[in-house]
Amino acid sequence: MTYRAYVFDVYGTLFDVYSISEKCTHYFSDKGVRISQSWRQKQLEYCFLRQIMGTYIPFHDITKDALQYVCAVEQVYITEEIITDLLQAYLKLSPFAEVKQALEMLQSETLVVFSNGSFNMLHPLLNHSRLANYFRYVVSVDEIKQYKPSPLAYQHVCNRLNMHPKQILFLSSNAWDIAGASHFGFQTAWINRAKTTMDLLSATPNYMVNDLQELIGQLT
Ligand code: LAC
Repeated sequence: MTYRAYVFDVYGTLFDVYSISEKCTHYFSDKGVRISQSWRQKQLEYCFLRQIMGTYIPFHDITKDALQYVCAVEQVYITEEIITDLLQAYLKLSPFAEVKQALEMLQSETLVVFSNGSFNMLHPLLNHSRLANYFRYVVSVDEIKQYKPSPLAYQHVCNRLNMHPKQILFLSSNAWDIAGASHFGFQTAWINRAKTTMDLLSATPNYMVNDLQELIGQLT
């Protein structure tokens, strides 16, 4: 294949962040699904804002803050035990249905995980899903304390892999991540899982597909 490395975003790309909504429904009944969605939105917003403000804290802490904020807005009762349980659930998210088979098909390639997630979230998640062995490198922005979509974050992957951006195919379901990676110089594949519209951020992905299997069909 044409790329020296395949670099995967994690949340929303390999793992379904909304697989947590069942647990949210358990705790927050009819507000559960909405809370799981707002939780994800706030989590991303806090990354972007903290990147701009230069006030980095690890993704685990951002995830906790986002949950607490959303629960306050929704005026639902939450205890330390519930917070701990929901954060634990984040370590056991479900991979999307086709992920394992797709990684198997790419097994002869250099596969890399690259996430805003901190290692104390990424390693348990990859181990729990039994996907850890497919990846040669696990790279976290926590090593440089700069969140995607900062160019500094994408540069960090190149430094870790000792590769030029053009040699790397970066895969993400997050349009903002694809935009950041494309501007940085990666080749990009937008896994459009939500079947939505590409953000207008002056960036066009090299591939636009619905899932990883479809991408592999276009690569070979
Ligand atoms: C990731 C999230 C933020 O970097 O999607 O994995």
